[in-house]
Amino acid sequence: MASTTAPTAASTAGSTVNGSHGSPDASPNPGSETLRILVGVGGGIAAYKACALVRAFTGAGHEVHVIPTESALRFVGAATFEALSGNPVTTTVFDDVDQVRHVRLGQEADLVVIAPATADLIARLAQGRADDLLTASCLVATCPVVLAPAMHTEMWAHPATRENVATLRRRGTVVLEPAHGRLTGPDSGPGRLPDPGHIATLATAARDRYGIFRRSLVGRRLLITAGGTREPLDPVRFLGNDSSGRQGFALADIAVQRGARVELVAGFTDDLPVPSGAHVTRVRTARDLHATVNDLAPGVDAVVMAAAVADFRPVTEADSKLKKGGAEDLSVLELAENPDILRGLVESRRTGDLPEDLLIAGFAAETGDAGHTPLDLARVKLAKKGCDLLMCNAVGGGRVFGRDDSSGWLLTPGDHPGEEDVVEVPAGSKHVVAAHVLDALEELFAPG
Ligand code: CTP
Repeated sequence: MASTTAPTAASTAGSTVNGSHGSPDASPNPGSETLRILVGVGGGIAAYKACALVRAFTGAGHEVHVIPTESALRFVGAATFEALSGNPVTTTVFDDVDQVRHVRLGQEADLVVIAPATADLIARLAQGRADDLLTASCLVATCPVVLAPAMHTEMWAHPATRENVATLRRRGTVVLEPAHGRLTGPDSGPGRLPDPGHIATLATAARDRYGIFRRSLVGRRLLITAGGTREPLDPVRFLGNDSSGRQGFALADIAVQRGARVELVAGFTDDLPVPSGAHVTRVRTARDLHATVNDLAPGVDAVVMAAAVADFRPVTEADSKLKKGGAEDLSVLELAENPDILRGLVESRRTGDLPEDLLIAGFAAETGDAGHTPLDLARVKLAKKGCDLLMCNAVGGGRVFGRDDSSGWLLTPGDHPGEEDVVEVPAGSKHVVAAHVLDALEELFAPG
């Protein structure tokens, strides 16, 4: 029988506690409460970006205490962090001893975010050292602890760092994947500190939902599509849609942080940070998207179609800008149907052109109509597409498109129409919704 249940953060499959040694304590109203956030700053050149991180948190209304290491203060002065956070800054447990600052700050924190986390700081945290205020506070904290590493690629790849990172992750600390790109000096590779706003988004998601960054997709390859396609009418006009790409990028973000190799195929999107380490291909039209997905699908374990694909395209694309009163009759637009990419994938799997264990997931954006709720229409769409998982969002009236939050239902097929399994996805950031989708997908992967 169909069932409708709202999962709690603690009940979701495989959830682990992100904090160093705390217990699940999901926020009752994710994303909207004022948090006490400890921002730790390690001694690397990226320390200057911690200023923007502090700004992002205070701008969102959170209370921020900054704890730099001694070497971080060689890059950015304490006065800068004090002015930005509105709170005193010290590096040692021996200042204001009567206030037992390291215990109080660690105990009272809702979230600890360390950016940049240097190789040395990661090593000290992995060893459980408490030789300055930051490491001592981390030992006291029971809330989620999120590290954003930044260092040269060789240091990130060194077996000592790999083991330290693995130790911390095993204990529940979230160690984000560094961004790829230009490092200090001429070299480039993994090791860059992600954009501060992006760190703030990911760290807040770690607080909103425990286990969101567990390493459950190591060894998996995912193909995720995002954004809207545009179907050209002439060189300057097109048929398009309002998709921001946020949901697809959030899926790629979470999948990368869970250890997956991610192919992200993106149409037109807002200006969004590229998920660390994802391989991104940009496409324009539904037919470009179709060709790229078909190229990449044989090499992955799952495809998640979050792109908003135009169902129709103008039959002709004019070479020059269409003019009123010109030779063309502009009052009638002749359209051709685009391929249904999702249904095509399911069909190729059925005929053996794609592996039979390839998982295929889709999204449905539904407004409902006079006789049907969005969920009614999603049940019909799941059957029509034949995919393994469908995330349905109720859209319209400013909901979902272009926003940071979303909600809806996750549907998997039942034995008969009307017997689909339906799980409500409560309102949350698109990263938290992405985690629900990936949790459901992970349950569908064959063990092993
Ligand atoms: N989709 C696709 N190819 C298309 C249209 C949609 O692969 N030509 C995928 C979307 O990426 C999404 C799912 O199908 O995962 C549902 O998209 P949606 O636009 O809601 O559905 P449509 O098939 O377009 O149906 P309708 O517009 O009639 O609701």
